[in-house]
Formats: sequence, C-alpha cells, structure tokens
Amino acid sequence: MQEKILSTQLLSPKEIAKAVELLRIGQLVAFPTETVYGLGALLDNPIAIQKIFQVKGRPKDNPLIVHIHSLEEVEKIAIDIPNEFYLLAEAFFPGPLTLVLEANPNVPPEASAHLPTIAVRCPSHPVARDLLKNLGSPLVAPSANLSGRPSATSAEHVLEDFQGKIAAVIDGGKCSLGVESTVIGLQSVNYPMLLRPGTITRKEIESILKRPLCLPNRLTPILSPGMRYRHYAPNATVKLFFSKEALFEHILKDRNIKRMILSEENFQEMACEQYPLENASLYAFLRYSDKIECDEVLILCNETVQKNEALMNRLYRASECP
Ligand code: TXA
Ligand code: MG
Repeated sequence: MQEKILSTQLLSPKEIAKAVELLRIGQLVAFPTETVYGLGALLDNPIAIQKIFQVKGRPKDNPLIVHIHSLEEVEKIAIDIPNEFYLLAEAFFPGPLTLVLEANPNVPPEASAHLPTIAVRCPSHPVARDLLKNLGSPLVAPSANLSGRPSATSAEHVLEDFQGKIAAVIDGGKCSLGVESTVIGLQSVNYPMLLRPGTITRKEIESILKRPLCLPNRLTPILSPGMRYRHYAPNATVKLFFSKEALFEHILKDRNIKRMILSEENFQEMACEQYPLENASLYAFLRYSDKIECDEVLILCNETVQKNEALMNRLYRASECP
C-alpha cells in the first residue's frame, strides 16, 4: 500500500544527498532531464517500482525506461547487446535517446512490464547525472505526469499532478527540449525500429546505423505498449488544422467556444488566446489550457511543423479521442 505523504518536498539541485536518501528507502523522487521530468525509483526495488504505477495510474503492461549514468551499467541490465547499441551510444549518450535491448533475466519484471526487453537511457541533464552518479545504481523513471496527461516540463507541473503523493521533486527549472526521448528498438538487430520519434531524428539515427529504420506499423504497439494509450492530452478537445483557412472556418462556425490557438504564426484578428507552437513549450501550454478551462485547443500545423516528426507524433496523440 502507498504510505501517506503529507507534502512533497521541493528540493534544490544542491540537495541531491536528500534525494538519494529518499530513493534508497524506497520513496519516489521526481527529477529533471533534458526532455521532461522523470518520476524515479531504484531499479532494484520492485515495491517502489509498483508505487510508480499506482501513483501515475499507469497501465501495468507499459514498461519503464532504466536511466543510467555510464555504459558499464548497461551490461548488468541487458544481454546480447548488439554493436548497433554501442554505435548509437557513442554518438548520442548522454542525451535524449532510449534504446530497447534484450533484458537480463535479473531485471525486475515490474520494470519491464514482464516483457523480455528493457529500455535504457543515459540522460544529459546535469541534475539527472549528478543524481545517478551519487546513487551509484540505475533509476527507472517514466515521465512525471499522471497517465494520459501532458508530460511535466517544470517542477510546478510535477507538483500539479503529484503533490502529497511522492516524497520529493528536485527543481531543475524548465526542461530544455520538452518532448520525450527518441525510442529505438534494437531487440531485433535485423529490424532496428523507431518506436517513438524525438528530437534526435530518424535521419540522424539512420546515418549512424547506415541503414533505414523500420517505421511504426501495426506491430509496433505490441513491441512498445505505451503507443496503445492516449497521451499528452489536456481536458480540452485538441484539434489539428493543416491550413489557416480550415482553422478560420472552424472558428467562424461558433465564436462562443473558449479556445486557445497554438501556432507558429500570430493572427491578430482572431480574438482567441494565442501561443507559439514549439517542442519546448507544448506541454506547458496544454497544461495551461486546463487552468483557464478551455473547451478547445486549436493547433495549426504548417509545413515546418509537419516536418517535425516528434512534435507531430505528440500532437496526433493528444488529439486522439479518448
Ligand atoms: O525522455 C524520456 O524518455 C522520459 C524521461 C523521463 O527520461 N521518459 C519517458 O518515459 O518518456 P515514459 O514511461 O513516459 O515513456 C516510455 C516509453 C513508453 O512509450 C514505453 O512503452 C516505451 O518507452 N518503452 C519502455 N520500455 C520499453 C520496452 N521494453 N520495449 C518497448 N518500448 C518500451
Ligand atoms: Mg510518458
């Protein structure tokens, strides 16, 4: 059972020792990464890992990413590590990339959601690195948001979702990238697969592997269970538009709906709240749309946005019906 926590401590990056102490006694601590905040528990504490699923309301079949400080740790977590792993790690670790490998049978099944594979990531954020170094062991961490809600890109976002439910959050300010890591499946080296696009692009990965990645298809939700669930969604209905005309036409149909527009361009004439559309601030604005109780968030996907595979993926997911 989850013990009662009266209030979640807001720790400064200088208070890493306190965070380490809490994690070592099986508590959950949220921490900043360069992508989004993570909700951490020690990999070797299955009860703490179960708490992550409880507090997030996360479906039990959705596996977690293991965060590591250095490459030596991977060999304790995964087996049959292919050369492709080392090529990508050399190019992009530490950084916003997650690689899925064959799991070492000693990995707690709570972390891998009973899959034979395990996801590994080495974050570059200095606070995350400091935490992992001081812990001396890996941390499992999903994004620090209630399941289905937009991810948290600041300590305040974490508190909105978890005040009184987790022991602490380390405040590292805003996350610089704002969308989650790129996830590549390497469990079958014959078919390295893009399981989730991120800021490290498909092209960048392919240029290191010197071959094309398999793209998500009907099989992918089986390989990456997280893709099955609704994600990143505020309470408002999120609608995507691919031309200004279609957006204007929609607004003119009914002007009495409380709306927010996210777009690269600003339209003076549209008497709605308007904010920029970019990776780093997407989740903050989706969360803000809940604060101001919008009915609709309208998103203009111009050509530049359409080329941004990571952003389009999050927008499609946020706009899917529940
Ligand atoms: O940037 C990130 O990756 C952030 C920060 C905190 O590191 N973490 C994150 O975790 O986004 P989460 O749990 O919100 O998303 C992890 C994704 C899910 O779609 C999950 O299904 C997939 O990675 N995943 C995890 N383990 C997997 C595995 N063994 N096989 C396939 N997909 C896996
Ligand atoms: Mg998530």
